[in-house]
Amino acid sequence: MQGRGVFSSRLGFVLTAAGSAVGLGNIWKFPYVAGNEGGGAFLIIYLGLVFSLGLSVMLAEFAVGRAAGRNPVGAYKHLKGGLWPLVGFMGIAAGFIILSFYSVVGGWTLTYVMEAIAGGLPSDRESLGATFGATISDPVRPVLMHGLFMGITVFIVYSGVEGGIEKANKVLMPMLFVLLIVLVGRSVTLDGAADGIRFFLQPDFSKVTPSMISAALGQAFFSLSLGLGAMITYGSYLDKKADLPKAAIMVTGLDTMVALLAGFLILPAVFAFGLDPSAGPGLTFITLPAIFSSMPWGGLFAVLFFLLLTIAALTSSVSLLEVVVSYMIDERGHGRRKATVKAAIAIFLLGIPSSLSFGVWSDVTIAGKTIFDLFDYMTSNIMLPLGGIAVSLFVGWSIKPAAIDEIHHGRDKKFRLTPVWIMILRFVAPVTIAWILVSGL
Ligand code: PHE
Repeated sequence: MQGRGVFSSRLGFVLTAAGSAVGLGNIWKFPYVAGNEGGGAFLIIYLGLVFSLGLSVMLAEFAVGRAAGRNPVGAYKHLKGGLWPLVGFMGIAAGFIILSFYSVVGGWTLTYVMEAIAGGLPSDRESLGATFGATISDPVRPVLMHGLFMGITVFIVYSGVEGGIEKANKVLMPMLFVLLIVLVGRSVTLDGAADGIRFFLQPDFSKVTPSMISAALGQAFFSLSLGLGAMITYGSYLDKKADLPKAAIMVTGLDTMVALLAGFLILPAVFAFGLDPSAGPGLTFITLPAIFSSMPWGGLFAVLFFLLLTIAALTSSVSLLEVVVSYMIDERGHGRRKATVKAAIAIFLLGIPSSLSFGVWSDVTIAGKTIFDLFDYMTSNIMLPLGGIAVSLFVGWSIKPAAIDEIHHGRDKKFRLTPVWIMILRFVAPVTIAWILVSGL
């Protein structure tokens, strides 16, 4: 397809795909899900799933995207047709829903940037939870900040892939990485941090339940941006010279490193400060100010950290919006600008109930879950794994020769793991994911 834009360099692509993967999922969600699910045993299962199924599905999405050069719906249509485009539709719906609540959390990070600049983050440990609670339960400000976060996302997507998205990623991802390492250094040397490290690393296999495995799978898909076609969309902007298996390994590796760093940042501090590891979505926001207040130049680190976290969130939200927008452009004939604004307004509106579910609507529940939790559960634990099964079957059975061909473009040597990859896509991934899905329900 002409005029869709391509990445200007291969490093730019890897960093941009990593920019999609690395985000709130790693730094906000991973520590609290690990905390909720009991630490060490969760970590082992998570890592196992990421490097077997996650990696294979990511390579499958890259192959589909680049082979088709289209958005998820268009890609399935173009490569095979039949009922397959429905999978693309489900992905676009998932992207839409995820962005609606993701942007609410993005709004919290923006709020914390402003508070950090104004020096208004709480420093006494007793009130950390209460301050966070007050911040997110307000009926007005979090909604406005959610709107602001969506606004910035729109601004970046507006400028197209090579302009906005790629440039921002190249500089900011490495900065975030370095800052995380510095902060981990502080966290693991706090008094009492050892208990947190033990919690994170020492498996207690009595904690392994179907719902924990399902949480690990959902977290893996969410964190790697898989199952909805975000990597199909980014793959579609990639030129034929890039080495897909290498890119998939690098993106998966980077994403996992950042999640591990976030675990070593948050969990030791949780224990050092006597907080509860299963505190839920507030865990990172409650813990971090305590870390900052215990270090020299804490105020400066706070500003920097929340700024970089917001940016990491933006490079992910951009990929979510891009999924929806690329569909509207390719399949519906919209212009980029109109598509971006239209989609963003709808997503903003859908996000409002999620924001209110931490305050005035906190007792509106469906199946025992608030709207926010329900959206998160529905997408991470159901829609993304379903999308993962579908893309595995699609590549493993339906377009196998073309897919194998595709992953060999841009490589000088044959990809030796091809038979393993195909085996995983044909049997292991669909069966395992289906089993986890069913037993998780
Ligand atoms: N992977 C992103 C994160 O960890 C979120 C995301 C999910 C982005 C799905 C795109 C698709 O923050």
